[in-house]
Amino acid sequence: MYNFDKIVNREKTASVKYDLRKAYFGKADVLPMWVADMDFETPDFIRNAIMERAKHPIYGYSIREGEYYQSIVDWLKRRHNWEIHKKWIVHSPGIVPALNFSVQTFTKPGDGIIVQPPVYFPFFMAIADHGRKQLENQLLFDGQSYSINFEEFEEQAKQAKMFFLSSPHNPVGKCFTKEELLKMGEICLANDVLIVSDEIHNDLILPGYKHIPMADLSDELAEITITCIAPSKTFNLAGLATSSVIIKNKELRTKFSKTIADLHLGNGNLFGTVASQTAYTHGDQWLDELMAYLNSNFQLLDSFLKEEIPQLKLIKAEATYLAWIDFSATGLTDEEIKSKLIHEAGLGFSHGAIFGKGGEGFQRMNLAAPRTTVQNALENLRRTFS
Ligand SMILES: Cc1ncc(COP(=O)(O)O)c(C=O)c1O
Repeated sequence: MYNFDKIVNREKTASVKYDLRKAYFGKADVLPMWVADMDFETPDFIRNAIMERAKHPIYGYSIREGEYYQSIVDWLKRRHNWEIHKKWIVHSPGIVPALNFSVQTFTKPGDGIIVQPPVYFPFFMAIADHGRKQLENQLLFDGQSYSINFEEFEEQAKQAKMFFLSSPHNPVGKCFTKEELLKMGEICLANDVLIVSDEIHNDLILPGYKHIPMADLSDELAEITITCIAPSKTFNLAGLATSSVIIKNKELRTKFSKTIADLHLGNGNLFGTVASQTAYTHGDQWLDELMAYLNSNFQLLDSFLKEEIPQLKLIKAEATYLAWIDFSATGLTDEEIKSKLIHEAGLGFSHGAIFGKGGEGFQRMNLAAPRTTVQNALENLRRTFS
């Protein structure tokens, strides 16, 4: 049994989540529940593998060998029943870089790219920074859960070259159904729209739900889908800058690989390679225990809000460790909510509005933290909002 209750002091470790609090929130002592990394220790078997390699005194240029790729192939088969070939895997230092490489490789200035806000905001930057046109297929919210506006999606697909899918969806925590994915996929096929499926949260699935890789739905969809995965969210390795882009279509893969090669980004990070291979080879039990712990954190948050602060509503999470909370019933403006959270509750959440349309009135709370940290945050919320 792994210990997810352990409190680890992360201050002064050059951590974005901890050491940028003053810069981001204007207050250095907020309880940080924003950036999507975890306050749990990276599993011991991964740390041991890194330390073992670190004992060798030379950290020169390194390669990724067959076992590295095989560990990804085996993991995807074991965890998601998705069969891929080693040669489909292209290295990327990160998924946000991969989104940008995709835009640069496969689209031209002015081309339309569909996004589904409220969504992970670097999607917007990857479009605007390269002068592409953002087509916003805002998710429909009925007060309880989210669905897709397919009519609008179909219209937008006619003007689009690319679709950025967040699956499972950050921040709303939605694990798309097979029907939803197929319908979006078929519209993309019919309109020659390339799908960049950001599946970085694919392993963080809560009980009762199942992640379906877009590229696994049909041979046709595999041909137009660029899938982004990484061990970074799953095993808390974001600082090691090691991710994978899976592209079955040879022509697309060759073009994408050329972008990486031209930028000389293929070498990667020696410790990231060791960590990724170890995680995907030995990580099953740790991940199962992590998901059980996260599920209890979600249950705690849900029952606490229902009993103690009914005006705050948790949107039912299906995946990720990010809780999406509706503050609109407080009647406060976004600025008031933000200010109260920071200055009265001492909490550093991600402000919903940064995720674009439909994010107003919401806050995203990172629940990948020991239970006592979550309990402290809930007490602070109660003092401020009940
Ligand atoms: C949907 C999504 N994509 C990408 C990333 C970050 O990817 P990377 O750190 O590999 O650039 C995150 C991190 O929160 C995310 O939620």
